[in-house]
Amino acid sequence: MRTAPIGIFDSGLGGLTVRRELFELLPREDTIYLADSANAPYGEKSPGEILHLSRRNTEWLLSRGCKLIVVACNTATTNAIESLRREFGVPFIGIEPAIKPAALESRSKKIGVLATRGTLTSSLFANTSRLYASGIQVLEKEGKGLVRIIESGKWREDATKELLKSLLEPMLSEGIDHLVLGCTHYPLLIPQLREFLPGSVKILDPGPAVARQTLAVLNSKNLAQTGERSAVHKVFTTGDTELANQMLRWLGYSQQAQPLSF
Ligand code: DGL
Repeated sequence: MRTAPIGIFDSGLGGLTVRRELFELLPREDTIYLADSANAPYGEKSPGEILHLSRRNTEWLLSRGCKLIVVACNTATTNAIESLRREFGVPFIGIEPAIKPAALESRSKKIGVLATRGTLTSSLFANTSRLYASGIQVLEKEGKGLVRIIESGKWREDATKELLKSLLEPMLSEGIDHLVLGCTHYPLLIPQLREFLPGSVKILDPGPAVARQTLAVLNSKNLAQTGERSAVHKVFTTGDTELANQMLRWLGYSQQAQPLSF
């Protein structure tokens, strides 16, 4: 199993921000990335639909021989990972909004969370907030429209920055000092966010922590690749391959996405 690939899935292209962190820390590991862009956004679907799609993505990645699955989607993690762990016999690594580090570090005791509706309404999110953010004001905002903009390839347009400003204005005027990005698509917007967020507001992306956790689990289960080798990376999309390729190029990768239909 050591030589098997790591499977990664997201509702679309956002999980490529997590894959980027995995590449940094695990340069020898092969990966297979599944972008379910035909069904994005997951954040507007019911918990039952999110679980159904997450199961289907997992089954497909396991049929390709993956040894571990990274659920590179906050919405799928918060709605489905507990069931996936019960149902499938491989390790799963998920991603959740980084409320704990934000709450620990905050001086103003006010933190902002930008996430999808599916994540904000999940019981896992409610439990994390209750456990780790007592005494902290958590200002939540649904990033309505953002995933669609990114999936349609328009994330660098000025209108996106204006939408971000309008979404975040209320929490900024409340005095947050941390902004938690609770969706793996949103780190793609950090350049625009930095253009208007005050320098005193720290942006938290849990992608690097996911990579560290993946490394720890691979090591603890004797699943890590050994020896010098160049890793093989594949990307599949249920959506438009040209849009996926545009994103891959923007992130600096020369791979070509392959079409996938279920
Ligand atoms: N990247 C997904 C996440 O982290 C986006 C969810 C969606 O498709 O709405 O939540």
